[in-house]
Amino acid sequence: MTPLTVGQALRVVAGRLETAGVAAPLADASLLLGHVLCLGFGEVAAAAALGRALTESQAADLEELTRRRVERVPLQHLTGVAGFRTLTLRVGPGVFVPRPESEITAQWAIDLLGRRPRSASAPVVVDLCTGSGAIALAVATEVPEATVYAVEVSPQAREYAADNLARCPAGARVRLIAGDAREALPELAALEGAVDVVTCNPPYIPPDGVPVDPEVRDHDPPLALYGGGPDGLELPVALAARARRLLAPDGWLIMEHGDGQWPALSAALAGQGWAELADHPDLAGRSRVLTAREQGLPAPR
Ligand SMILES: C[S@@+](CC[C@H](N)C(=O)[O-])C[C@H]1O[C@@H](n2cnc3c(N)ncnc32)[C@H](O)[C@@H]1O
Repeated sequence: MTPLTVGQALRVVAGRLETAGVAAPLADASLLLGHVLCLGFGEVAAAAALGRALTESQAADLEELTRRRVERVPLQHLTGVAGFRTLTLRVGPGVFVPRPESEITAQWAIDLLGRRPRSASAPVVVDLCTGSGAIALAVATEVPEATVYAVEVSPQAREYAADNLARCPAGARVRLIAGDAREALPELAALEGAVDVVTCNPPYIPPDGVPVDPEVRDHDPPLALYGGGPDGLELPVALAARARRLLAPDGWLIMEHGDGQWPALSAALAGQGWAELADHPDLAGRSRVLTAREQGLPAPR
């Protein structure tokens, strides 16, 4: 049998993924081929242009990966990695796959830390609900003087986070803390009232908002998705209250939320005493991340 070329494989795999309803079939086909051939995205295009052929074992590996992607197993679970800003993070079953929107959350943290006076002491950041450690590691990488504390309740997610911290030079400045981020964790006791920025991408989906995409619905952990309460905001509001106790006066909270949740979430946070509440769009223009400043008044009990 004539061996399959990279170009032919790209077309066949992309066609099967398109039929299965995968959102970006050609990009996914290219990334699966790159995974099998140990090539980067651009190198796959070059291999296709040069007429490179797959070995039998590579073709078999590609077939198995394609079959699973057709079943809508997330691409990142098949390749084992997810790109996030400058990082390549290990991900898989049991941990939330970091999303491009959260790169904006990290950017807000970096920008707000950059506004501090040059004379200020080294910044302290707390990332609540850290998952794979994506936001915590990105901030530690891009703000090299920062110390970051990353809180996560899921033991499975913490395994990925610990691995990602160990693989990244900036991981030495990130402390991973096990526990419920709503609680006054002993590891954070000394930081109460002294934190410069709290980042948080909490679970926020309401119970009637079960995601349509099988990659999310069937593969992201439920603990990472559903925020509790009728509107999904129980956990985000509780986490904002915890953030207020951690932050120094003039410290900032950066929190992700679902499109459409800003009115209810901002009203709840205004009631907690936050100042300068502002909403910001994601790359698609949807309302997705808020910033709020701790104004140093006593938090309501
Ligand atoms: C939407 S994911 C975000 C993960 C990561 N920050 C990111 O952006 O990729 C939410 C994470 O919060 C964790 N989580 C849920 N409830 C929590 C709680 N009460 N305390 C700490 N972590 C929690 C979940 O296990 C999950 O890893």
